Amino acid sequence: MAHPAIGRMALRQPARHQNRADITVRVVRTLDDLQRVSVLRGLTYMAEQDCPYDEEFDGNDLCGLHLLAFVGKEPAGTLRLRFFNGFVKLERLCVDRRQRGGAVASFLLSHAFEITARKGFPRVIAHIQERLEGWWTHIVKCQVVGRQTFDFSGYSYLVLEIPLPKHPQAIQFESNPYVMIRPEGEWDHEGILDPKSSKPQTSKPLRAAPTLQPASPSPINARASRSGARVQRPTRITAA
Ligand SMILES: CC(C)(COP(=O)(O)OP(=O)(O)OC[C@H]1O[C@@H](n2cnc3c(N)ncnc32)[C@H](O)[C@@H]1OP(=O)(O)O)[C@@H](O)C(=O)NCCC(=O)NCCS
Repeated sequence: MAHPAIGRMALRQPARHQNRADITVRVVRTLDDLQRVSVLRGLTYMAEQDCPYDEEFDGNDLCGLHLLAFVGKEPAGTLRLRFFNGFVKLERLCVDRRQRGGAVASFLLSHAFEITARKGFPRVIAHIQERLEGWWTHIVKCQVVGRQTFDFSGYSYLVLEIPLPKHPQAIQFESNPYVMIRPEGEWDHEGILDPKSSKPQTSKPLRAAPTLQPASPSPINARASRSGARVQRPTRITAA
């Protein structure tokens, strides 16, 4: 896998670990993957850094976006993103100690920056362990904001700002609706809800063609639409 084109621009040495065919990064979408995240964080933060369970698993895991890196088939690292007003908070970065050496962390970061920029956010904030300031400034184009530290879970933290390049394909309010409804991070690949060019043939006889949706929705569809449930679809518009 290569570093993504925009995300890599926030790395100091994007060529350093380019083209590590054995490393992949994906957005967490299943409970299985969330379990992989928990194992990695349990091993790193609880076992290595003695962090209590309630501090590590802080109630924000079901409202953040997690990335999971693999070396081959083995989960190797993770991080979490949470979205705020004009910025994204990057947190819980960790790499399985057997896989440390820089590559996994830099792939996680370049993918995090790509997704963040694609969503239109111009900058990332990270609360970094003070002891790792040298590491962050070596890996990422960033600056420490002020010098004031604050403490939690037994470590001193600094605030780091990572400015991001503008993404030329940032998703906008006016963006193609079929792009917007694809799975997070998979905006360049056709999704299950994209219009199909050719529908699979069925052996059953086709019913009479459905009538077109009326301009004002039927009471049932209006109710379903208000409750967020699926409504019967009108003829699909063509994606640009
Ligand atoms: C922090 C962590 C993600 C870093 O990943 P890693 O794979 O161990 O990265 P490495 O320490 O091997 O460092 C990679 C690069 O940074 C450099 N580096 C390491 N420590 C450094 C330091 N203190 N100052 C400057 N550069 C440093 C290395 O020389 C290497 O550079 P290179 O790629 O140019 O050769 C990983 O150690 C980890 O999971 N730690 C536990 C969890 C944690 O503390 N997370 C951070 C919370 S803020």
